[in-house]
Amino acid sequence: MFIFSRGFTLFIALLSSLLLTAQSCQFHGHGLNLSSIDYPSMIADNVATRSLRRREISSTRVTLHNVRVFDGSTLLSPSTVVIDRGFIGRPCTACEACPPTESYDAKGMTLLPGLIDSHAHPANVSSLVNMTRFGITTAVNAFCPVPEFCTSLTNHTGLTSLIMASFFATSPGSEHAKMVGPSFDNLLIDNTTEVPSFVARQIAQGADFIKVIGSAPLPGLSQDEQIDLVITSHKGGKQVVLHTSSYASYEQGLIAGVDQIHHSTLDFPVDDRLLKMFKARDIVVCPTLTMMRAIVQQDPSMNGSFSSAAETVTRLHKARVPIIVGTDANLQPTMPAMVMYGSSLHDELENLVAAGLTPVEALNAATVLPAKYFRLADRGSIKEGMRADLLLVDGDPTTDIAVTRKIVKVWVGGIEFDE
Ligand SMILES: *[C@@H]1O[C@H](CO)[C@@H](O)[C@H](O)[C@H]1NC(C)=O
Ligand SMILES: *[C@@H]1O[C@H](CO)[C@@H](O)[C@H](O)[C@H]1NC(C)=O
Ligand SMILES: *[C@@H]1O[C@H](CO)[C@@H](O)[C@H](O)[C@H]1NC(C)=O
Ligand SMILES: *[C@@H]1O[C@H](CO)[C@@H](O)[C@H](O)[C@H]1NC(C)=O
Ligand SMILES: *[C@@H]1O[C@H](CO)[C@@H](O)[C@H](O)[C@H]1NC(C)=O
Ligand SMILES: *[C@@H]1O[C@H](CO)[C@@H](O)[C@H](O)[C@H]1NC(C)=O
Repeated sequence: MFIFSRGFTLFIALLSSLLLTAQSCQFHGHGLNLSSIDYPSMIADNVATRSLRRREISSTRVTLHNVRVFDGSTLLSPSTVVIDRGFIGRPCTACEACPPTESYDAKGMTLLPGLIDSHAHPANVSSLVNMTRFGITTAVNAFCPVPEFCTSLTNHTGLTSLIMASFFATSPGSEHAKMVGPSFDNLLIDNTTEVPSFVARQIAQGADFIKVIGSAPLPGLSQDEQIDLVITSHKGGKQVVLHTSSYASYEQGLIAGVDQIHHSTLDFPVDDRLLKMFKARDIVVCPTLTMMRAIVQQDPSMNGSFSSAAETVTRLHKARVPIIVGTDANLQPTMPAMVMYGSSLHDELENLVAAGLTPVEALNAATVLPAKYFRLADRGSIKEGMRADLLLVDGDPTTDIAVTRKIVKVWVGGIEFDE
């Protein structure tokens, strides 16, 4: 039995608006209404900037010598790594004509796969530049209100590449629905008969996965609607990612069989009952502790909520539930909690280590694991033939996670970041 105070309802409402985190740099109203955002001008800016700052892949190979390699799974002894026209190549041997090569002595440094932020809300090219600067070579754009807006942020050579969410699935009675405004209300799901058209439309518009909002114990999609959504999305070959921050909707999502749960719980930590449900399924959790902390810090009535969020991570980790790194990065001025693009991923790595992960497990959570769970076969580890998405740091982050901040170089698809 749960009894919720007005404060609790308020914080769920507040959180809902946060998790919706519009890309709405131009929105300065009270509350959030997607219909008031000028997407066409944001799209035009992004597209114009894309052609202005286009980068070409160099045909010169780059060879890093004496570099320790964290390949995504473990730390290997110092070796040579070659970047060859966008991909990880192989050192050339004495018996072949070696192409032009630029050599770099990386003694004392560690090469990591480019980091993956599994939950961010980029709004413009500056968001991508800041993420790239901090070694994030792939990010999940966790909400797509307008498909053209999301695609205007993709294909920016040499900058963070993006995976695209769908519009969020929610019902007209939810807090999220209130923030949608008239232009999008036809996307709200009234009942299970509307699930197939919602899913088909999102897939046709290019969504890489289906996003669903968990609202329980507040009004939102019913258990049956969530189950339908999961079945229909899976039939269409898409995963379902549940966004929520309450114990009750964690439970709903586990029953519905979602593939991922994003955000940690702010009301109660997961307990043995939920952990048993986790064991029966292969679900990955992206706790976004950095955002959870930011929310709690800005609202004294949420006193103690961060300890629930952190305890959930500690318990999931002990129960061997896979965890991935996400930040909820956004710079929405009307929102109570902003999270910086880029630097926040390094904050999240530290939050996860504080919650019990080893530095190597935290690094797995930003490299191989998100690549596996978002089905990105070409990245997340360092092996011949993979995309040359790389981060070179000074020191050894497998013993001290703070070393990921000591960035020396970043490459996205073989293009070195130079701003
Ligand atoms: C991107 O958005 C941020 C935050 O709203 C703003 O400060 C910045 O000037 C924008 N950059 C571009 C290139 O539009
Ligand atoms: C949402 O924004 C639109 C456009 O600014 C406005 O017409 C509408 O009244 C707003 N709706 C709500 C519910 O705030
Ligand atoms: C990018 O980073 C700079 C320097 O930290 C900061 O001033 C700026 O606000 C950031 N912009 C965005 C869009 O993240
Ligand atoms: C990316 O941009 C280039 C140049 O503008 C264009 O030729 C290419 O088709 C684009 N690729 C995608 C996937 O949009
Ligand atoms: C489902 O919702 C739609 C739109 O509100 C409505 O037309 C339809 O009658 C509803 N179907 C059922 C079975 O309730
Ligand atoms: C916040 O927590 C402290 C101790 O953890 C407690 O003494 C205080 O009453 C709490 N404040 C609110 C507003 O809940």
